[in-house]
Amino acid sequence: MEKISFALPKGRLFGQTIDILRNAGILKETVSQDTRKLIIESENFRFFVVRSKDVPVYVESGIADFGVAGDDVLDEGNYDVYRPVDLGIGYCRIVVAGKPESRELYENLSNSVKVATKYPKIAGNFFSKKGIKPIVYELYGSVELAPLVGLAPFIVDIVETGTTLKENGLVVIDTIKESTAKLIVNRVSYKTKSQDIFLLINTVESFLGGL
Ligand code: PRP
Repeated sequence: MEKISFALPKGRLFGQTIDILRNAGILKETVSQDTRKLIIESENFRFFVVRSKDVPVYVESGIADFGVAGDDVLDEGNYDVYRPVDLGIGYCRIVVAGKPESRELYENLSNSVKVATKYPKIAGNFFSKKGIKPIVYELYGSVELAPLVGLAPFIVDIVETGTTLKENGLVVIDTIKESTAKLIVNRVSYKTKSQDIFLLINTVESFLGGL
C-alpha cells in the first residue's frame, strides 16, 4: 500500500492527532515529535511536521493527503480542500479583545478604528459585517502587546485558556466564532486514493462518535 501522508502542526495538536489515530486503531506505532525531524515515517504513514498555518498549503498542493487545521487557520486562507471531520480537539475562540475601558469605544465604532491581529482576513470580514472598515495591522505574534502600547485598542486573536489576556490586563470584548481542529483532505487524493482515504475517515468518525 502507498503510504498516506499527513501534514500535522507542531505542538499539542500533533500529539492529540496521533492519539486519535492510535486509539482508533489506524496507527500501530508510537509516533513522537521529540526530535527536530520534519518527516516522521511509520509503516503506513508519512508525517510532515509543520507550522499550523502551513498545514493547508501542504494539503491543497497534494504534498500531503491529509492535514489537521483549526478553523482559525482555514478561515484565514481560502483553501480548496475537503474538511470531512471535526476532530473536536484544539478548541479555542476567535475573539475581539482589548483593555476593559475600550468596551465603550467598541459600542461606537468608526472606520478609523485600529485592529491588530494575526488574522487580517477574519478581522476584516468580521468588522465589515458591522459596516466598519478598520485599519488592520497584521502581526506575527504577541498580539496582546498592541493595546498595551497603543498600536491599536483592539486585537483579533485566539483565546484558549485566557491566561495571556489575563496576564496582560485584557478582556474579551466580543466573540467572533468558536474554532476546533478539522481533518482536511486533498481533493485529488480523495479520488485517486479513495479506498484508503474513506477507510481512514470512516474509522476516525466511528471512533470519535463512540467516545
Ligand atoms: C496564541 C494566541 C494567544 C495565546 C492564547 O499565541 O495568539 O496569544 O496563544 O492562549 P491562552 O488563551 O491559552 O493564553 P501563541 O502561543 O501561538 O504565540 P504567539 O503570540 O507568538 O503567536
